[in-house]
This record gives sequence, structure tokens and C-alpha cells, in this order.
Amino acid sequence: MINVAICGALGRMGTTIAHLVSEADDMTFVGGVDVKAGTLLGAPVVESADIRTFLRDVKPDVLIDFTIAHAAVENIRAGAEAGVALVVGTTGFSGEQRTIIDAAIEGSVPAIISSNYSVGMNIFWKLVREAAQRLGDYDTEVIEAHHRYKKDAPSGTARTLLEIITEETGKTEYVYGREGMTERKDEIGVHVIRGGDIVGDHTVLFTANNETIELSHRAYDRAVFAHGVIRAVRFVSGKPPGLYTMTDVLGL
Ligand SMILES: NC(=O)c1ccc[n+]([C@@H]2O[C@H](COP(=O)([O-])OP(=O)(O)OC[C@H]3O[C@@H](n4cnc5c(N)ncnc54)[C@H](O)[C@@H]3O)[C@@H](O)[C@H]2O)c1
Repeated sequence: MINVAICGALGRMGTTIAHLVSEADDMTFVGGVDVKAGTLLGAPVVESADIRTFLRDVKPDVLIDFTIAHAAVENIRAGAEAGVALVVGTTGFSGEQRTIIDAAIEGSVPAIISSNYSVGMNIFWKLVREAAQRLGDYDTEVIEAHHRYKKDAPSGTARTLLEIITEETGKTEYVYGREGMTERKDEIGVHVIRGGDIVGDHTVLFTANNETIELSHRAYDRAVFAHGVIRAVRFVSGKPPGLYTMTDVLGL
């Protein structure tokens, strides 16, 4: 059995993942951490300040984090110190935070960090990479939409899309929305929509005179991310220390 704990257990993704963990034959949900203490599916959820005691007492095999960037950095450090395998879905890390995270993980625990755990998005990233390889001279725009409560913008998934397009086209300038007198140059345009209960929409446009290629991915339910997380938990459990990706998990 894989004992699984969740940071952000009482959040939208945390609760969705906890239900799937408790339904899996090979996993046990052993509780988690959130801003306020509580219980979830009969397991304890402790305050984030008590994470080290929780990890020592409960000894999970895998610690999942879906919180907020500054909190995730501390949770990852605590998990790495306790020797617990990590599956991190939190987005919005600064470069500096990412450096701290990578240093905490290196040589100590196996970990997977992904801005999007859906199988479909991981295929979508490959499709966008192939398109960008061939369409570097097309005007490129990234558009994303999420629910009204999402805190970071653009989304981690959109940031991954931008990294992929930059790697393949060499375009490094991003323009976030446009207003007033604007002249299109060789930038990548980035557009963010926030509203209602949109789970996660991403579109990449490659446009030239007389034609547009539009690639879109739409998530209808958080379960698509949670199912990928379950696969990541199975993959990372018992692996040697190091940073793995969803490409490894899915064998892409
Ligand atoms: N990688 C993916 O596939 C994927 C998919 C969806 C969302 N996300 C990301 O996951 C994160 C969470 O998203 P959400 O929609 O569940 O948000 P949410 O606000 O519903 O949940 C976050 C939870 O974290 C808790 N939290 C805050 N600080 C904490 C701390 N110090 N310790 C423990 N818990 C703490 C909050 O109280 C809340 O319950 C966001 O960064 C989001 O962008 C990633």
C-alpha cells in the first residue's frame, strides 16, 4: 500500500485527489495539511505550521502539494527533509522559488513537478512543440481561461506553453494583453481570461496571411488532473532520488 498525504487537502484539487486516492486499491489517504486543521475522509488535516510533526508521526510514502507557491516551497522543504517522495502540482513559482525547490529535492527524494497533470495536456504540449518547430515565422498567441478564484496568471500551463514555443522558435519577448497604439513585432502575445467556474482552457494560435492554425485543450473537470496525479504517485513511489516529469510517468 502507498500511504499518501496531501498539502492543500481542503482545497479544490486537494479534495478531488483525496477521493481518488481513497478509491484506489493500492493507496491509503493518511491525511494532510492546510491553513486550518480539520478532517477529510476520516483522516486528520493539520495546520501547515505542524507539517514536520505530521510527517514524523504519519510517515507518508508520498506527499502531494496543491497549495500556493510560497506555501509549496516550505512544504516541499519539509517533505524532502523527511525523505518523503513528492508530487507537486502548485503553479506560479518565481525563478528564485524554483531554485530553492530544486536544491531541496536534489539528491534527497524522488519528485515530480508538473504545471498540468492531465494526460491530454501532456500530449497537447507535444503537438504545440511540433507546430512551433515548423511555424516559427507565424504570429503566435497564447490564450488561457480559468475560474474566477485562480490566483496566479498566466497559468502554469500557459507558462509551460510559452517555454516550449520559445525553445522551438527562439522568440523570447512576451506581450501580456494589448491596449492603445500597438504594433505587432515578433513577440508572443499572452491573454488571460478569469471567470465563473472554467476549469482550464488553453489555446495557441499560429497565424500567417490567409491562414490560422488553432490548437486548443479544454479541461471539463478537475478529475483529469487528479487522475494524472494518481499515476504520478504510483510512478514516484520507491524511485531513486531525482526530479522526474510527466513525460517519464506517461512514457511519452
Ligand atoms: N498541476 C496541475 O495539473 C494543476 C491543476 C489544477 C490546479 N493547479 C494548481 O494547484 C494549486 C491549487 O489549486 P486549487 O484550485 O486546488 O486551489 P484552492 O485555493 O482551492 O486550494 C489550495 C488549498 O491550499 C491551502 N493552503 C494555502 N496555504 C497553505 C499552506 N501553507 N499549507 C497547506 N495548505 C495551504 C488553502 O487553504 C486551500 O485549501 C494552484 O497553484 C493551481 O494553479 C495545478
